[in-house]
Amino acid sequence: MTKTALITGVAGQDGAYLAHLLLQKGYKVVGGIRRSSNSTHGRLAELGIERDIQIIDFDLSDLPNIWRTISEVQPDEVYNLAAQSFVKTSWAQPLYTADVDAIGVTRMLEAIRTVNPKARFYQASTSEMFGLVQEIPQREVTPFYPRSPYGVAKLYGHWITVNYRESFDMFACSGILFNHESPLRGLDFVTRKISLHLSRVKTGEIECLELGNLEAKRDWGFAGDYVEGMWMMLQQPNPSDYVLATGDANSISYFVEEVGRALDMDIVWDGTGLQQRGIDRKTGKVVVRVNEAYYRPAEVDLLLGDATKAKEKLGWTPKVKVNELAQMMAKADYDRVKSGRVLF
Ligand code: NAP
Ligand code: GDD
Repeated sequence: MTKTALITGVAGQDGAYLAHLLLQKGYKVVGGIRRSSNSTHGRLAELGIERDIQIIDFDLSDLPNIWRTISEVQPDEVYNLAAQSFVKTSWAQPLYTADVDAIGVTRMLEAIRTVNPKARFYQASTSEMFGLVQEIPQREVTPFYPRSPYGVAKLYGHWITVNYRESFDMFACSGILFNHESPLRGLDFVTRKISLHLSRVKTGEIECLELGNLEAKRDWGFAGDYVEGMWMMLQQPNPSDYVLATGDANSISYFVEEVGRALDMDIVWDGTGLQQRGIDRKTGKVVVRVNEAYYRPAEVDLLLGDATKAKEKLGWTPKVKVNELAQMMAKADYDRVKSGRVLF
């Protein structure tokens, strides 16, 4: 029998890749999108699946809306991907972030528990919960120490998911995912900012890319690999929580160098802190500068995950390495910039 999946935040990066994967697996996919005055279907259109999924009006801050959605869709699987997902914005909008990323999860769980308790539930948790890391690398049992209102809100979302599983015997899983990127990544996030702006530098559209802290390190993987892990979690005999990560951490400056290499630049560094500059040795031009405006009130210096549990229990392994990811993103953005195509 055809399974039905509900994906909240289907218009986002992960939502689009997950919808694509589930359609390939024969699911009926219903996707929740919050209303906007602009079209938000760009990623679904890019993957050619805009017309293959049923789109519904959905907002995590609206309990009656969630309740009706679960009643009407009667999903077999629910993937809660919707969130205010940009860490920096969470300092500007801490209450909104908490309402959506923390209480929103309880709204989802309450609606499922009351209306359709057999539905399997995936919560999009995050390595940001490790924040000021207490152990290297980070595993499912590593103590949490979030460093942003986003991380704090997501930590609530994680624990309420665990709590509903233990209290009500629900099939609820929390996926603790490390950073995953793609050509469909939002423009605010650092990898996409680098691939887009260095492409513009390359074509002469702008002179230079401005970034914040170049020393932070992240464990970057490819979003297409990570959505497969989400699906695998909901196919297990028992619900549990899993870290998904590559086990390889690199600095922001490394990602700049790799994207530069893919664009036939040779970026080297001089200076430190706010004076640090990236220079393309092939042209002698300054192509990267540091701007304090992109610093955060509290930084997460290093994230490095250990996905042994996911490898052993799910058979999940990430396929794309960070340098391949940088190449993939550089190529996609360079082609977009050259052809003047719409960016999302
Ligand atoms: P994304 O591209 O920002 O997508 C998030 C989606 O949620 C967007 O479509 C957004 O809608 C929607 N949304 C925001 N507020 C909403 C609300 N109040 N009601 C309903 N929808 C709302 O993020 P992503 O990278 O795909 O990440 C998916 C999930 O995984 C998020 O929960 C994120 O926090 C989590 N996560 C991501 C990563 C990562 O590295 N990508 C790692 C760990 C965890 P608009 O398009 O209208 O803004
Ligand atoms: N966005 C951004 N813009 N980040 C910058 C910049 C810049 O100009 N310059 C330096 N950075 C640094 C940030 O300070 C941070 O240390 C790092 O780049 C990564 O920032 P983001 O790409 O914005 O991602 P994030 O790690 O804060 O959060 C992402 O990953 C989390 C999982 O660990 C998001 O996808 C979250 O939703 C996700 O939970």
